Amino acid sequence: MEKIEMFVLSVFLASLVIIPFALKTFSPYLWMDILYIADLVRIMVKFVSRRRRRPLFFVLDRFLEQTAAHPDKRFIVFENESYSFMDADRRSNKIANALQASSKYEPGCTVALFMGNEPAYMFTWLALAKLGSPVALLNHNIRSKSLLHCFSCCNAQVLIAAAELKGAVEEVLPSLREQGVSIFLMAKECDTPGIDSLTDQVEKASDSPLPHSLRSHITFKTPAVYIYTSGTTGLPKAAVVNHNRLLIALAVLSSNGVTSDDNLYLNLPLYHTAGFIVGFIGPIETGSTIILRRKFSASQFWDDCRKYNVTVVQYIGEVLRYLCSTPKRDNDKDHKVRLAFGNGVRAEIWREFLHRFGNIEVREFYASTEGNVGFVNYVGKIGAVGRVNFIHRKLFPYTLIKYDTERDEPVRDANGFCIESAKGETGLLVSKITDLAPFVGYAQNEQQTEKKRLRNVLKKGDLYFNSGDLLRIDKDNFIYFQDRVGDTFRWKGENVATTEVADILTLADCIKEANVYGVQIPGHEGRVGMAAVAVKEGAQFDPSKIFSHVVSYLPSYARPRFIRLQNAVEVTGTFKQLKVQLVKEGFDPGCIQDPLYILDDQVKSYTPMTAQIYNSIVTGGMKL
Ligand SMILES: *[C@@H]1O[C@H](CO)[C@@H](O)[C@H](O)[C@H]1NC(C)=O
Ligand SMILES: *[C@@H]1O[C@H](CO)[C@@H](O)[C@H](O)[C@H]1NC(C)=O
Repeated sequence: MEKIEMFVLSVFLASLVIIPFALKTFSPYLWMDILYIADLVRIMVKFVSRRRRRPLFFVLDRFLEQTAAHPDKRFIVFENESYSFMDADRRSNKIANALQASSKYEPGCTVALFMGNEPAYMFTWLALAKLGSPVALLNHNIRSKSLLHCFSCCNAQVLIAAAELKGAVEEVLPSLREQGVSIFLMAKECDTPGIDSLTDQVEKASDSPLPHSLRSHITFKTPAVYIYTSGTTGLPKAAVVNHNRLLIALAVLSSNGVTSDDNLYLNLPLYHTAGFIVGFIGPIETGSTIILRRKFSASQFWDDCRKYNVTVVQYIGEVLRYLCSTPKRDNDKDHKVRLAFGNGVRAEIWREFLHRFGNIEVREFYASTEGNVGFVNYVGKIGAVGRVNFIHRKLFPYTLIKYDTERDEPVRDANGFCIESAKGETGLLVSKITDLAPFVGYAQNEQQTEKKRLRNVLKKGDLYFNSGDLLRIDKDNFIYFQDRVGDTFRWKGENVATTEVADILTLADCIKEANVYGVQIPGHEGRVGMAAVAVKEGAQFDPSKIFSHVVSYLPSYARPRFIRLQNAVEVTGTFKQLKVQLVKEGFDPGCIQDPLYILDDQVKSYTPMTAQIYNSIVTGGMKL
């Protein structure tokens, strides 16, 4: 703790020295830079003072503070329901008391939450925080093998599922029962043996507060939530978000000017960092009202904003793009939204968004679930994810290093050290692992955790977090996101792990090898999945069988949209699959001699790609 305090003090002193100096060297953004530093210092001071409190102070305690301060203030609005802070407090007490009364729940054990966006998601999380249980936020799109993997990789002993996901739970029920897992369904009744209904128990339970002693074992290092990210290999990884990190995350909205007067529109999945941390944890600090939606809908977006007096919206790149592609309406500028906060918006969409929907401040940021550095573009420079700031860089020492995309590894010099990229040059973002910028890693996956650690970067023995992202810093110190490296790509706001998809493809009878990658499509964010596959000797490529295989094992965003048949999957001298050339060649049947297929949901099969389909995709006639 002392180290952090010393650090904050020295940063504060450094800013006193630097500000007058910087004032002399005029920069158009100077005033905003100074405000940002002031914010940073304020956040650090608050964090440090909270860390000193006894008994220990956690995110739940901030929620309880808010409830005590204004019990009747609206906290969550969902469809036609509205819950005050006190309602949320009482509902979560009821859930906690119901669980505690059940012999199938051990206080403090890890619980996996398998639910879509609804208020009960938040009440249940609060309930489990009151009981001192870490919570694994399962993606509700995953099924079978992936579901079992995500469940067990964080050592969860209890599964709480939404009523509509009963079928998905039943699919894996025998394995769960074998592991002795307790399963609760958020329904008033359930006739499946081995699954207990919870809603009826909650209704009967008392709403009296839970004793603090239930969570007295928790320290800042205890896992608070597990959030899943797609890794470079294998199945999803559970990033451990401990209580320290969650406490820091409280500042995510308050540091961006959001206050208790704001209504925040939350339409991203709560199982992701964006939805959970920004959309749910952020408002706990600010005391804002959350306007919760089951899922994003471009056609409902502005009507909701008007209906609920939304002032702050959150986004991922796709959200703003979809909004811009809805038909223009006369009332496009008729709303109270003043701030859009998120990441992944392209410059051209950003401009169009402002032009069409009016004077909204877009605050683009860069961060990752498990990463130890983040940026925020606090000056509104279109296209940038942030700005290099001397003090921020002192606190979180990061740099960009040269990266060899062919070999898929950082470039090293004769002495074995990495080479920092010059201004204007694209490089891999790496960030020093320190007490203030720790990297906790993935649950029960030391191998993947180690893969994200980069050693001997600039000096012998130093240790950095490898973000896996390529960024660029321009001469005016703006930071731009360029691309991801390695074996993941993003599609429809989800990370897709190429090796996970390849593993699933090779489970199909006819496929010998598969090389999965993402290809860009004009007018779409991210990359759509494509696979180059080699068929087993003597076997035939069976498009409809592959279709049903892919559909039953992969969520829709991870399914390869295009399949390219090759005689053999090409590999490098070190047996790494060659992707760069394949990515470049894309899915144009005019350029590729190999047989090409496209996934066709209508005929439930892969059908041959034609020049006509290709043209219709690249000109935007056909939406993917
Ligand atoms: C909310 O709407 C649903 C239908 O959408 C209805 O069944 C329910 O009674 C309504 N609740 C309230 C409190 O109006
Ligand atoms: C939205 O704001 C208007 C005017 O300030 C107010 O009359 C209305 O009740 C508000 N609606 C909601 C849902 O808060």
